[in-house]
Amino acid sequence: MLNAEQLADWERDGFLVLPELVSADACDELIARAETLVAGYDDAAHRSVFTTDEQQRHADELFLRSSDGIEFFLEADALDDGGTLTVPIERAFNKMGHAQHDLDPVFDRFSRQPILAELVADLGMAEPLLLQSMSIFKHPHIGGEVTSHQDATFLYTEPVSVIGLWFALEDATVDNGCLFAQPGGHRSPLRRRMHRLATGGVGFTELDDTAMPELGDPELVPLETPKGTCVVLHGLLPHGSHPNRSARSRHAYSVHLIDGAATYPDDNWLLRTEPPLRGFSA
Ligand code: FE2
Repeated sequence: MLNAEQLADWERDGFLVLPELVSADACDELIARAETLVAGYDDAAHRSVFTTDEQQRHADELFLRSSDGIEFFLEADALDDGGTLTVPIERAFNKMGHAQHDLDPVFDRFSRQPILAELVADLGMAEPLLLQSMSIFKHPHIGGEVTSHQDATFLYTEPVSVIGLWFALEDATVDNGCLFAQPGGHRSPLRRRMHRLATGGVGFTELDDTAMPELGDPELVPLETPKGTCVVLHGLLPHGSHPNRSARSRHAYSVHLIDGAATYPDDNWLLRTEPPLRGFSA
């Protein structure tokens, strides 16, 4: 589906912006489905997570458990010092993840559209596996910053193979916290790697001290994307997004794929047991 010019852009920039790759109806369906899942969130059952003095341990457990589940992650500003929500629960979450593409039929169908299989094949991935998915809410006023990072830090294979497919489910602009990326930055080394610690939780190992461009640096350029756009991201490309201080939401959905032909270390944070990882076929 990609033409020669687009493939050249990918090689040069480390990202591709594909407007109208998915329909507005498909975007709306995914937003509605996420809202339904959020509405089913049992606030009372999770109250201890918000209020405990062991918040970090609970946060780590929640994160690791999301390898093969659908978990909800709060915005940093969603709780006051006493552990009370500062906004209604439906606007309190930063994201939902990381296995809805395998566990939920609506997300499964969206994530495995034939056009995405074609796209990933065109980019040369031999044995695509859909590794993780995220619904990124970026609610008005409270949607948090995503600091500049490389996806391979979190989704590591040897060799690096991760590709991100990021979908604008709503128009994303500079005002409401669109992506920023560094053109050509995918040719720079992987700076650090996140992994599980033997003592529990997760930590980082520094791999290379090349400076990372930070949000606000001119190397990172805004990618303003209308609803239905897919942004394809190389696993080494520095990217991030500013907080959403506007009154408009900026709901996005992302799927990250790895090549099954690459080695997947067993100290990666994301360890999937059931259901097993799979590609685009049913
Ligand atoms: Fe990312």
